[in-house]
Amino acid sequence: MESNQKFLERKNVLVTGGAGFIGSHLIESIQSAGSITVVDDFSSGRKENIDTSKIKLIEQDVNSFPEDILKDIDVVFHLAAIASVPKSNEDPLTDFKVNAHATLRLLELIRKNKADITFFYPSTALVHGESNQEKISEETDVKPISFYGLSKYAGEHYVKLYSDIYGLKTKIARFFNVYGPRQHTHVIFDTLQKIASNPKHLSMLGTGKETRDFVFVKDVVSATLAFLDSPSSEKIINVGSGDAIPIEQLVSSILRLCNITDCKVDFSQKSWKGDVMKYRADNSKLNAFFKPAYSLDEGLRETIQWFENSYQKITR
Ligand SMILES: NC(=O)c1ccc[n+]([C@@H]2O[C@H](COP(=O)([O-])OP(=O)(O)OC[C@H]3O[C@@H](n4cnc5c(N)ncnc54)[C@H](O)[C@@H]3O)[C@@H](O)[C@H]2O)c1
Repeated sequence: MESNQKFLERKNVLVTGGAGFIGSHLIESIQSAGSITVVDDFSSGRKENIDTSKIKLIEQDVNSFPEDILKDIDVVFHLAAIASVPKSNEDPLTDFKVNAHATLRLLELIRKNKADITFFYPSTALVHGESNQEKISEETDVKPISFYGLSKYAGEHYVKLYSDIYGLKTKIARFFNVYGPRQHTHVIFDTLQKIASNPKHLSMLGTGKETRDFVFVKDVVSATLAFLDSPSSEKIINVGSGDAIPIEQLVSSILRLCNITDCKVDFSQKSWKGDVMKYRADNSKLNAFFKPAYSLDEGLRETIQWFENSYQKITR
């Protein structure tokens, strides 16, 4: 069931991190809103991702934007974050300030100024750390093994407590491995960059046996809107594809879709600290009101097309 976005009609929406990968797709999908305000410091987001004629842009740190911005806001999508395990490992303090402290600040501003705001928080499957369960449900133990997983969990738990203690209207989705056009980092983008510079030889981190649940960004946005629109009383849901794909299979699919047949692929057998071996979402709660529509091949085709249009043609 797709969202008809009734909950957004004539509503004033704030999107933090709106110039980023997921935020910019979200903004494209909520044009039925009364107004859209974006707070972004462009630390990883890009101006070309958003049409500034249609939104009010506040170019500021989410830890210091003026609180009067919230005056007429009805719905907040709080996407601003340092969304990277390696970056959080390099600088855990900044990771905490952006992912956890800024979330607490925003919740506190809402509590003090106006409680009647719907607050959406995108958490991550990485709150679970390494799990030996075949599928990860919302109830699976939370044991982050990266600073990113920990800071996003702190943010998530503040959101939960502001709902429990102050009655804020909140919804949390734990996204799995989101991919698609405008993602300038992570494994799919990195692989395309490497193939574009050398289609004969590809060096990958890890063993290739690690599994991930890759979910296309347009499905993630549709799932988020369907969740906010649904009468579901769930406060936290998983958003994945529900499938586990080994990285070596992902690489084969990318090479096949790029029509490359003679590429030698090496895996380093080593990864970075905080990386996990396997992830697959139990999507049962999500599936009660939304089912992802994109297959991995369909999502990869759109991503490859975007990469070739925005960066570099991949020679065959
Ligand atoms: N991409 C994924 O696979 C994934 C998975 C789970 C959760 N998430 C969550 O989804 C959200 C969006 O992630 P994304 O992949 O689009 O990342 P992204 O890096 O593309 O977007 C983050 C945006 O936040 C902005 N930002 C960062 N720090 C800021 C600050 N201090 N003040 C103002 N703006 C700031 C960046 O400029 C960027 O536009 C994040 O909260 C992330 O934790 C993403």
